[in-house]
Parts: sequence; structure tokens; C-alpha cells
Amino acid sequence: MPKNKGIIGAAEHVAIIMDGNGRWAKSRGKPRLYGHRAGAKRVRDIVEACPQLGVKYLTVFAFSTENWKRTQTEVAGLMKLFKKYILSEAKRLVDAGVRVRFIGDRLRLEPRLVQLMDELEKMTSKNTLVNLTVAINYGGRDEVARASRRMAQDVAKGKLNPDKVNEQTLARYLDTYVLPDPDLVIRTSGEARISNFLLWQSAYAEYEFVKTLWPDFTVRDFQEIVSIFGSRKRRFGGLLAS
Ligand code: IPE
Ligand code: IPE
Ligand code: MG
Repeated sequence: MPKNKGIIGAAEHVAIIMDGNGRWAKSRGKPRLYGHRAGAKRVRDIVEACPQLGVKYLTVFAFSTENWKRTQTEVAGLMKLFKKYILSEAKRLVDAGVRVRFIGDRLRLEPRLVQLMDELEKMTSKNTLVNLTVAINYGGRDEVARASRRMAQDVAKGKLNPDKVNEQTLARYLDTYVLPDPDLVIRTSGEARISNFLLWQSAYAEYEFVKTLWPDFTVRDFQEIVSIFGSRKRRFGGLLAS
């Protein structure tokens, strides 16, 4: 098979569960938010490494629908960090050719954060080099439930024939409707679970669970995983051509 323009692997869409910020901070005797700040800093390098690795889509899990269960201090600190991150990274993202999108339920997020998210999506909407999707207040089950609700509303309005509903129909109602399914899902910090991330979309994704805590995850680690992916054979339920 020809290599992807001489590039290792062909993981067009990589999704990352950025886990381990809390443990990273704890091991340094620091508060959890210190770990989240260090974690946020790691995102830039990874995004900017995507073009050379042939990764067109990068989706990162920043805050789950279950993360509201954390202390008020941690939740408020994370929301503040998201706002600060958008403000400080916007120009660089625009210049680097990154198109940013957000997935998740925005209704529970504070208006100022939603406004910044909308603005960043608009500011970067002409970019095409890399597609960065950030999942905030995202849960796979919640996404399918919200999609089903909108689909049912369309049926009630007579806009959708219920007998015609199939996998493609539901996929169009998901937050990710413009994105291809992920080829590879990486989770850092040694936990081998998906914690409600892209449940529908990763039906056939390859998974890589790595021990490294997210704030320690480097471009080199990323490169290595993407190249391992390139050597795997995916069957999608069928047989390999011999
Ligand atoms: C991931 O790191 C970031 C978020 C969930 C916001 P954690 O905060 O889950 O870190 P650990 O798992 O406690 O180490
Ligand atoms: C998943 O990590 C969510 C994010 C990385 C944003 P968690 O740390 O919240 O997941 P659990 O609690 O270990 O399953
Ligand atoms: Mg965690």
C-alpha cells in the first residue's frame, strides 16, 4: 500500500481522552487545577503536529457530562481555564490554519464561555489544514439522547418519515455530523475505559491506552502511537484481502 504521502500511518481522525491531570498535580503536591493548566498547555503542540502526521481531524475530550460531579472549585476553575485558553490561543489557531469546533451540550455552560466558543468557531471557519474539535460538557449517551429528541421533534413536525430512519439519519443529528468517524482513540493515564466518549462514532475505532499522564504526553508519544496505528490491519467486520 502506498504510504500516505510518505507520512507514517493513515489515521485521518484521532480522538484523545486527555486524562491524568489530577494525578500529575497530586504527585507534585499541587492542587488539581495546576494539573489542568499544565494539561491545557499540551494541546497546542499536539494540534500543531497533526499536519506532518497526516492527521486531518483531532478531537479532544476536555470536560464530560459526568465531570460536573467534581468539586465546585475544580469545575469553576476548569470553566475559567477554557475561557482563558480560547482568548489566549485564538490568534495562533487562526494563523496555524486550524478550524475549531466544539461538541457537547452548550445549554449548561455559562453564556460568556458559549460566546467565546461561537466566536472561535466563526474566526476559524475558513481554515482547512487541521480540524480541531473540543468536547466540552460532552457525553456520548447525552449526545445520542439529544439527537433522538431532535429527530422525534422533526417526526412530530412531519419533516421526517419515521419509517426511513436508519444509521445515517441518526448520525446526521449527532454533534459530530460534519466529522468522519475516529480511526484511532488514545487515552492517557493508564485507564482502559472510554468514559462516555464518542460512543456511536468509535464503533470501529482502534484504541490505544497509554500510561503517560496527559501533562507529560509529548509530540513524540503522539507520533509513535500514530505510527503503530499505521501498521494495524482493520477489518470492519469483513475479511482481509490476501
Ligand atoms: C482529565 O484529568 C481532565 C478532566 C477530566 C477535566 P483528570 O482531572 O481526570 O485527572 P485524574 O484522572 O484525576 O488524574
Ligand atoms: C474522562 O476522564 C473525561 C475527560 C478526559 C475530559 P475522567 O477522569 O472524567 O473519567 P473517569 O472518571 O476516570 O471515568
Ligand atoms: Mg481522570
